[in-house]
Amino acid sequence: MGMDSTWTEVDMYFINKLIAFDSNFDYVLKNNKKAGLPEIDVSPTQGKLLHLLAKMKGAKTILEIGTLGGYSSIWLGNALPDDGCLVTLEYNEKHVKVANENIKKAGLDHKIKIIEGPALETLPTLESKGFTSFDFIFIDADKPSNPYYLNWALKLSKPGTVIIVDNVVRNGHVVDSEGVDQSVLGTRQLIDLLSEEPRIDATAIQTVGSKGYDGFVIGIVKE
Ligand code: SAH
Ligand code: DHB
Ligand code: MG
Repeated sequence: MGMDSTWTEVDMYFINKLIAFDSNFDYVLKNNKKAGLPEIDVSPTQGKLLHLLAKMKGAKTILEIGTLGGYSSIWLGNALPDDGCLVTLEYNEKHVKVANENIKKAGLDHKIKIIEGPALETLPTLESKGFTSFDFIFIDADKPSNPYYLNWALKLSKPGTVIIVDNVVRNGHVVDSEGVDQSVLGTRQLIDLLSEEPRIDATAIQTVGSKGYDGFVIGIVKE
């Protein structure tokens, strides 16, 4: 048995034991597939990790950059209290349409608002829409823009805000210091920024499982 199939088998074991079947997530993944969306959502165990972290934080306001079909948005949205809200940014019109269907089906349309457009154009509009700071921020869009997204996340944060960045390992390519892949360069710039940034305490954690070998940055804005 190769490592990849072991990771998947172990992931399936934990998914079956620890993650209750939820027809809303089933619908999301089927609807995404039907619409031809790429299968790059977080895995069930990762989605639940995001959900638990948001709950541990007691987050009432969440910002997500990169919606796709709303799979991670729904995991995070389910962690919110009744008066909580999640804003998620997405530039692909089809992804927005499918995500809106999925979010409505999950009964979260009163808590989740999708803002359509390139994130670097919509992030500067959040403050005037009344979103001055968030408790929890999940960055999961185009990887070359990660350094810009981190700076926006810091602008839209307050002491104690949790900031998570997806896909920072990319099969280990993050250590290719000679690489020219723009996604790897963006991630390495993000890590450089974090290493010099006094306002945030961060770590990175490697993950394996049904979505391969990848990882998250997890940070908290200092008091
Ligand atoms: N968070 C999702 C996966 C997001 S995939 C989940 O786990 O379910 C990345 C998404 O970011 C894609 O839908 C892509 O269209 C979107 N994206 C890429 N570049 C973007 C940009 N510049 N602005 C806004 N969205 C972008
Ligand atoms: C890609 C993006 C993601 O957010 C992800 O989780 C996996 C892959 C991508 O752009 O290839
Ligand atoms: Mg991702």
